[in-house]
Amino acid sequence: MTIPFGENCQMQCVNQSPTDPTFVQNPYPFYDSIRALGDLVFWNDYDMVCATSYDAVNAILRDRRLGREIPAGMQQPIPERLAPFYAIEAHSMLELDPPRHTRLRSLVLRAFTSRRIKELAPEIETLCHELIDKFPGGEVDLLTAYAQKLPVIIIARLLGVPEKMSDQLLTWSNAMVTMYQARRTRTDEDAAAKASTEFSDFMRGYIAQRRKAPADDLITHLIAAEEDGEKLSTDELITTCILLLNAGHEATVHTIGNGIKILLEHRIPIVTLSPDSIDTTIEEILRFDPPLHVFTRIAHEDMDLFGHTVKRGQSIACLLACANHDPVAYNHPNSFHPNRSIKANTSFGGGLHFCVGAPLARLELRFALSTLFSRCPNLRLIGSPQYANLYHFHGLETLRVEIDPSTN
Ligand code: HEM
Repeated sequence: MTIPFGENCQMQCVNQSPTDPTFVQNPYPFYDSIRALGDLVFWNDYDMVCATSYDAVNAILRDRRLGREIPAGMQQPIPERLAPFYAIEAHSMLELDPPRHTRLRSLVLRAFTSRRIKELAPEIETLCHELIDKFPGGEVDLLTAYAQKLPVIIIARLLGVPEKMSDQLLTWSNAMVTMYQARRTRTDEDAAAKASTEFSDFMRGYIAQRRKAPADDLITHLIAAEEDGEKLSTDELITTCILLLNAGHEATVHTIGNGIKILLEHRIPIVTLSPDSIDTTIEEILRFDPPLHVFTRIAHEDMDLFGHTVKRGQSIACLLACANHDPVAYNHPNSFHPNRSIKANTSFGGGLHFCVGAPLARLELRFALSTLFSRCPNLRLIGSPQYANLYHFHGLETLRVEIDPSTN
């Protein structure tokens, strides 16, 4: 890795290929080196300003002078072949600023209540047991047999989408999220556009069905909110359901995977922890090895930020995982301390777009980890699990473990 001074750069420029396997497996040394250069650096390979420190990432996520929408007059034309993908994005709260963001988010929050999430606890625990019951004896890939199954089934149930669709939802979702990764190819883009069309056609049909036969599920609640005159259009409804299905499992799958890996590598017996310590351990997992490393914001005006001039329309990447390892915010940030006292980390973002699903994700993590380790206390890693080369996502390719059949 080289970190030259950029002659034309008003801030320090850094070079690091986001697809370099060494970086993908362990991006934290790079993060340490760029954070030492300043709150903001210019990452040449990304062609983007990046916020590196805990303070800078938190401040930018909360700064209302920056947002998600490209300022008027600066939008680039969208290629026709990608239109189906961007047609969905156009209504996604994740991509919008107030006032549309506020309206969409508050409608979702009304339907996605904390009471409804808490009520899911017994269901989540039962599902964890059912998945473990199905483990073959001996060796198992916990990513596919466990970490992937739990969040997708739960979010499908919550929305009211048939559970037998789970595998199909995973396939569509995986194809769509390749659009956000550093090494996307033309084939990825075509697959994302195809998945977008199919997913949206499915949701359109399914929503029509739900209008005729309401049930006690999130889709019905969202439809009701629309019909109460709050104007959630059918296209907004489709996008919101797709967003919840995609966001509702991808990151949780990988936090469960990364968490199991960390606990096994550090030999932490989570079953002996009190409920409070489990929460602390989960926050430390989220801080130490989060599944999503980058979210961007766009400057809506010229501004001074951390001693640098940022121009209207310029994007800034908030390096969440880099902020989480800032020694100014955490003592010995590169060490995993399951009992570290809780201090808000950036893994769920911050400000207006703070993760809607954080309470659900935390509940799933709590049951996924405690049930697994109490049912299978003698789990042993097979080999060293590798992260998929999909930066800025940070999740494992597989998580192969050996289970002592006598304890399963
Ligand atoms: C460990 C698991 C999860 C992580 C690490 C995570 C992370 C994040 C982050 C960092 C953001 C903010 C993006 C930004 O600032 O631009 C976000 C937003 C969001 N997340 Fe999550 N998420 C997780 C689970 C979930 C779940 C389970 C759901 C839904 C059930 C969900 C739904 C959403 C939605 C809808 C947004 C957009 C919020 C907005 O734009 O206002 N997430 N998530």
